[in-house]
Amino acid sequence: MSKPRILVTRRWPSAVERILSERFDATFNLDDAAMSVEALSNAIGNYDAVLPTVSDKLPASVFDVAMARARILGNFGVGYNHIDINAAKDRGIVVTNTPGVLTDCTADIAMLLLLTVARRGGEGERQLRAGEWGGWCPTHMIGTKVTGKTVGIIGFGRIGKAFAQRCHFGFGMEVVFYNRSPVDPAEAARYGTRQLPTVEDVLARSDFVSLHCPGGAENRHLMNAARLAAMKPGAFLINTARGDVVDEAALTNALKNGVIRGAGLDVYEAEPHVPDALKAMSNVVLLPHLGSATEETRTAMGMKVVDNITAFFEGRSPPDRVA
Ligand code: DGY
Repeated sequence: MSKPRILVTRRWPSAVERILSERFDATFNLDDAAMSVEALSNAIGNYDAVLPTVSDKLPASVFDVAMARARILGNFGVGYNHIDINAAKDRGIVVTNTPGVLTDCTADIAMLLLLTVARRGGEGERQLRAGEWGGWCPTHMIGTKVTGKTVGIIGFGRIGKAFAQRCHFGFGMEVVFYNRSPVDPAEAARYGTRQLPTVEDVLARSDFVSLHCPGGAENRHLMNAARLAAMKPGAFLINTARGDVVDEAALTNALKNGVIRGAGLDVYEAEPHVPDALKAMSNVVLLPHLGSATEETRTAMGMKVVDNITAFFEGRSPPDRVA
């Protein structure tokens, strides 16, 4: 029997590419650039499986092909708001993701952003490299102490929990969170935190607010102008979730007008575009979507996709099916 024909939309860690090439009739997008909607649509018509990432946009129009050959989308990543899941379902295409393996690394990046923005690490490094550091003095580049401060988490999934654990047990912070569904208080306590009833309750009492909810229509602009204004004066916003959870224009205004004190961002509304206004602000730490970017994690993500599509083509249920 011939091997399933698969398209991998970006280059992946070489160990995973090797396995994909052994098991499947694999084509890799050697340009390693985000694929256009048109190219992805062609792929749906011509491959048995398409393996996209967050940089590929798959709106409903991608699935609007005369004959869809694709039977599964093995997404390389846990977030899948770049895929119109309902359109995929309507064409009978299964969608899988890669949960669990990027939890720690993404929580680490949230911690890195929190510490860097609080302690002005980015500013300090830029100053030193520019040859502008005049030496130690008692008033040089004074930041904010994190120990004893309150961090508010929006979204208590795997990454929210891992971040809570770091903040409370690692850095002596008080941690509260908002989650759509109720969490057993004993479970919350294991992560050093407790649930509050509303997003506003969390915003009102947190010195740092960190977003860990999914992107997509449901949470689009969850952090809008009103919610930014509801944050404690002098608070910081951290976003490692998805760019569309924050209204970037409202955030820019809030930072310019001192409504909040700073922000640490790993994700943006129209990646890889980052507004110049944000780049110009010294109280903002900007990372290029590095949440899962470690050798170990990216390999593990690739292996999850391998497991999912292998199971599918062997007639088993893929372990990480989301649609
Ligand atoms: C994810 O897994 O969702 C990360 O953001 C990378 O895609």
